[in-house]
Amino acid sequence: MGNDFRCQLNDSVEETIDFLSQKWGTVRPSASIICGSGWGQTSEIFTESQSLDYSEIPGMNPTSVSGHLGKLILANSNDRQFLVFRGRSHFYEGKGWGPVVFPVFLTHALNSKFLLLTNAAGGISDRIAVGDLMVIRDHINLMPSNPLIGSVLHPDIPRFPDQSAVYDQQLQDKLLEIGLKHKLPLHCGTYLSLAGPAFETPAEIQAFGKLGADAVGMSTTPEAMTANALGMRVAAISCISNLAAGITPHPLSHLDVENTAVKALPVMKRVISEFLKTIH
Ligand code: HPA
Repeated sequence: MGNDFRCQLNDSVEETIDFLSQKWGTVRPSASIICGSGWGQTSEIFTESQSLDYSEIPGMNPTSVSGHLGKLILANSNDRQFLVFRGRSHFYEGKGWGPVVFPVFLTHALNSKFLLLTNAAGGISDRIAVGDLMVIRDHINLMPSNPLIGSVLHPDIPRFPDQSAVYDQQLQDKLLEIGLKHKLPLHCGTYLSLAGPAFETPAEIQAFGKLGADAVGMSTTPEAMTANALGMRVAAISCISNLAAGITPHPLSHLDVENTAVKALPVMKRVISEFLKTIH
């Protein structure tokens, strides 16, 4: 992923923006949301919206994972636009970092200042129950590679980006205040990311707990790192969809992950709609 990737990225972002403006006119999102497993339906919080399949949008990769619909939504609310990516690409899909971080470069190029990421994660901390939400305070990235490797991908990205506050503190505070105010099961914790696609072993989960991880998953950190390096304000929410391997006595399955997401959807929708009202 060297200069070629950079050229492709810049060319595709411009082509994508041209395509979107032909379809939708000027797109200037106040914030963008990338939805993980089962969370696409959070876009139903918007009454006014238009959508395009990823497969029709130049530069966007169709998703291959169940629970990731593969639609881009342009929503309008109180004279503001929001861009919602219903489904993300993962490193484990084997197509490299390009498809994973493309939505971040796109939304940055459209001048969106805020990025909200959602995912499903396995719970390690005994403070957080299945079905609860966790605002990501920080992450431990144990993916085997890093989306910022290669020639500098964008003039706004420094060679050695500071990552001491990837997740914006004010945005975390706003999310936690919403949880308190509306009595929603919203916690705060550290997310540990791995490439997947295999779930972890019980011994790995025991080790990750000792490292300080509250939840484990296969996404989010690449987009968060890239958006932070680009100067965007990032927030992220995990839904604890299952207890992690060895904490639960049962084998893990993606179906259980999706089923918990369905149950937690009303809370996620409430949190996101209240959150979007507070950011300007
Ligand atoms: N491990 C990794 N990723 C996950 C999990 C898990 O237990 N649950 C949902 N995504």
